Amino acid sequence: MDLVTGIKERRSIRKFQDKKVPRELLEEVVNIAAYAPSWKNTQIARYIIVDDEKTLSALANEKCTYGFKGNVAIMEGAPAMLLLTYVEGRSGFERDGSYSTLKEDRWQMFDAGIAAQTFCLAAHEKGLGTVIMGYFDEEEVKKIVEIPEGQALAALIPIGYPDIDPAVPPRKDASKLLTFI
Ligand SMILES: Cc1cc2nc3c(=O)[nH]c(=O)nc-3n(C[C@H](O)[C@H](O)[C@H](O)COP(=O)(O)O)c2cc1C
Repeated sequence: MDLVTGIKERRSIRKFQDKKVPRELLEEVVNIAAYAPSWKNTQIARYIIVDDEKTLSALANEKCTYGFKGNVAIMEGAPAMLLLTYVEGRSGFERDGSYSTLKEDRWQMFDAGIAAQTFCLAAHEKGLGTVIMGYFDEEEVKKIVEIPEGQALAALIPIGYPDIDPAVPPRKDASKLLTFI
């Protein structure tokens, strides 16, 4: 699959086949996502993948999704889920701990976002579907899955073999998005 096709054909997948994803394949996807760019190559993204059924069903509740039922339904049908975290205090920071720019600590989420999209594109190329979920409650998730000290949760990303082929949600084109100066 060429890059443009991958970018255009990746869709958010919210329904998965009842089929386990081999850990070796998930490892391959993470090894591709590791090529995502990051602030000063700090590589702060970390990938905690839950494929244990008990833990997955414990996470699939409205407390963890900030009350958003749609995400509970997605999680209930997912054979695995990535808890994408980032190591705090490096991206966007100087060695003395001060912020490098006026964006302060927001480069951390920027880096995590690039890592998320790179992960999703790599998964798509390998025949896997993903959906980035922003509706989650970090504290509730932490009650179920231990997140290492010094890491924060950036997104939840259910992953599995797609059971749907969604239409492309409408996209704006360059006539609306682009300004030349
Ligand atoms: C930061 C972010 C948060 C998102 N949060 C959710 C979410 O909580 N639940 C969900 O079903 N989709 C979520 N999405 C998926 C978007 O709805 C989806 O990307 C958008 O509708 C475009 O569809 P596509 O990904 O198929 O192109 C999120 C996407 C992003 C980038």
